[in-house]
Amino acid sequence: MALLAPSILATDFSNLSQQIRLVELAGADWIHCDIMDGHFVPNITFGPVLVNSAKRSTKMPIDVHLMVEKPDNYLESFIIAGANYITVHQEVVIHLNRIITRIKELGAKAGVAVNPSTPVDFLQDIAEYIDLVLIMSVNPGFGGQSFIPNSLKKIKEAVKLREKLKANFLIEVDGGIDSHNTLSILEAGCDVFVVGTSIFKTDNISAATTELKNLINDY
Ligand code: DX5
Ligand code: ZN
Repeated sequence: MALLAPSILATDFSNLSQQIRLVELAGADWIHCDIMDGHFVPNITFGPVLVNSAKRSTKMPIDVHLMVEKPDNYLESFIIAGANYITVHQEVVIHLNRIITRIKELGAKAGVAVNPSTPVDFLQDIAEYIDLVLIMSVNPGFGGQSFIPNSLKKIKEAVKLREKLKANFLIEVDGGIDSHNTLSILEAGCDVFVVGTSIFKTDNISAATTELKNLINDY
């Protein structure tokens, strides 16, 4: 069964705890935290302090997406803050095997994200060691963007890579997901849907969450 991971980047941070509880009650599975440093991406969001606030608001796993230039420097602080998954970008890490090993040594699950123009095949020599591949279906840095259509091809490539290597990573898709493209993303092979705007920027957060979860469950 695929999972739904609301991205709190799109929340009203003055009501963070209440909005996390809303999506949890409405069927969400994980909470996705977008960490941005203003260098790897042209935006700055939040750090471990806020991740810990999110952790204390829910029983759901915390899925931390590091869109930062030097992820090595932050692994421990995010894991201490409560991260269950830590995903780093392939584009900024020279020693990917070393950082994946470190994340797992620290007790979290390890993910690698690829930007829209980064081939999935760049992960073939790390794929067997990771718990999650994050396919960016928008250019990282901001919520509310449109889904990049060739992401469907990349999701299918990730499925093929997993089969070829007999790996068991989850395939997470992140950016521009809504009720209109959910089924095609599901059919392509997505295991974890990251959704921000289509949940938190709606008139009814609970209903939007339940609608997406039902689409995923009824497939
Ligand atoms: C963008 C983030 C995404 C984004 C998803 O850099 O990684 O998680 O917040 O939000 P929506 O659903 O608004 O595209
Ligand atoms: Zn993200």
